[in-house]
Amino acid sequence: MVIIRYFEPSDFTEILEIESEAFSEHNPLLYMNFYEMNNDGFLVAEYNEYVIGFVVGYEIPSNEGRIFSLAVKEGFRSMGIGAKLIKAINRIFITRFLQYASLEVRLTNKRAQSLYKRMGFVPCWVQHGYYSDGEDGVVMKKRLTPYSQHFLNNTSKNVLPGKISKIYLDRFI
Ligand SMILES: CC(C)(COP(=O)(O)OP(=O)(O)OC[C@H]1O[C@@H](n2cnc3c(N)ncnc32)[C@H](O)[C@@H]1OP(=O)(O)O)[C@@H](O)C(=O)NCCC(=O)NCCS
Repeated sequence: MVIIRYFEPSDFTEILEIESEAFSEHNPLLYMNFYEMNNDGFLVAEYNEYVIGFVVGYEIPSNEGRIFSLAVKEGFRSMGIGAKLIKAINRIFITRFLQYASLEVRLTNKRAQSLYKRMGFVPCWVQHGYYSDGEDGVVMKKRLTPYSQHFLNNTSKNVLPGKISKIYLDRFI
């Protein structure tokens, strides 16, 4: 069974392995900084006690949650884990009463763009030369407010604005 839970420092090595297989640009220290400064925006997907994916998001001005990084380990892709990580981080943004989720994705990363579109993100503009190798980035955004209203209407007061604990994903693996 796959679960989504908060990052713990003991996950660090596995996060770096997934990060290095997923991205050409690396900045390992960023992940520990994220944990120290923003630990409820750092979620991992766990299967049989192994970390198989992660998402990092944080609050930025303009009432927005920014998804900084999302990756799923090779061999575990196309099973809905990326989508579940996005839903979980959006839920955290909603508990913080943020109105939008946003992210930046490489222009050539059509697979991720298609997943984000399916999750309700809309391409907004292109940031020329955003990445260190000169590639353009596409900024995508999703409005959270209608869902947040739904969430508020359907969630007990004990849950808001507290943290989520674990989201069970046994339907996917
Ligand atoms: C982008 C990424 C995170 C997606 O993760 P994922 O777990 O494969 O995502 P999902 O499984 O939720 O969705 C991916 C595809 O699988 C399909 N899928 C989802 N559940 C499925 C299932 N049970 N069976 C078969 N296919 C399924 C989806 O339709 C989706 O297809 P689409 O992209 O054509 O719409 C992953 O490919 C990755 O780590 N890439 C490298 C890093 C990266 O690019 N990160 C994003 C940077 S912005």
